[in-house]
Amino acid sequence: MSFTRSVVLGCGSALPDRVLTNADLAVMVDTSHEWILQRTGISERRIAAPDETTCDLGLRAAQRALVDAGLAPQDIDLIILATATPDNTFPATAVSIQERLGINTGMAFDLQAVCSGFVYALTTADAYLRNGLAQRALVIGAETFSRILDWEDRTTCVLFGDGAGAVVLEAQEGTGAVSDRGLLASKLRSDGRHKEKLFVDGGPSSTQTVGHLRMQGREVFKHAVAMITDVIEAVFEQSGMTAEDIDWFVPHQANKRIIDASARKLGIADEKVVSTVDRHGNTSAASIPLALDVAVKDGRIKRGDLVLLEAMGGGFTWGAVLLRW
Ligand code: UT7
Repeated sequence: MSFTRSVVLGCGSALPDRVLTNADLAVMVDTSHEWILQRTGISERRIAAPDETTCDLGLRAAQRALVDAGLAPQDIDLIILATATPDNTFPATAVSIQERLGINTGMAFDLQAVCSGFVYALTTADAYLRNGLAQRALVIGAETFSRILDWEDRTTCVLFGDGAGAVVLEAQEGTGAVSDRGLLASKLRSDGRHKEKLFVDGGPSSTQTVGHLRMQGREVFKHAVAMITDVIEAVFEQSGMTAEDIDWFVPHQANKRIIDASARKLGIADEKVVSTVDRHGNTSAASIPLALDVAVKDGRIKRGDLVLLEAMGGGFTWGAVLLRW
């Protein structure tokens, strides 16, 4: 029996040049380097230049992922961009990336699941590839959260940053066993009863403004570890794998305390955890592909390694993906 797997061929990422440190923020709002570092693990984040958009960052990450995969733009017939900060209300920023890559065949669309966007987009691309709707996909997470932050609100503006990451997936024949390369299991969830805990107070149909991010941080924190570990246990059950089998845990980078508590609860050893929150802050849908790219390029993640991804964010949405690199 034939069994199609979505195999990662390459990855790439892009960060804006401007670094905003905790010390810089302490001049802007009533905060301190010590508070931010101790409560979140963040030391600095990147901020897009005034004329630099989500499309620019996503395009750069996509180009680097294509080079890494050894493919030309024309080899791609599906682009999914996970973002909550598109350039325009429409058209989809994915279509602008497609155009700037010089592709005018296949399909491109944006996917909105906020911080869970990348695991949602990977799972969606996997469904397209396994069903023969596309052959090779670019899955991108790109954000310019600096544009939707209230820079006078110290409870949120210290947490987020801008950036992008991308992977190239190809439909390949596997055996159906967990030794196959590619996506092995995924689980996505959402629950709109938590909307008020993390949302943006604007939008085209409601206020006709872009709005600002609002978060009840402590409330989100309270739910995060339970939701993350629950969905990871679901992918373990689906795949028959356990925490011991994992080579690398690449979580959404929101808060080091959440990452550490989740890893501890799941029994994943510290040295298997990839953490970039100290330098990137929370880049929403870009955080996982950014962290993946760092760990691949510095030689930690190697072909054949078992990699566990998870994210949780506004909605709430949450999800996990298990893949063999
Ligand atoms: O990616 C989407 C998912 N998002 C998340 O996962 C975020 C989840 N939440 C968190 O990461 C944490 O809740 C925060 C980092 C946002 C906050 O950490 P916390 O330990 O939950 O702090 P807290 O909200 O309970 O605030 C503690 C104190 C408060 O003062 P009082 O009421 O104790 O006097 C805050 O007003 O810290 C104060 N505070 C600050 N102090 C200095 C809040 N923000 C700041 C700040 N600098 N930037």
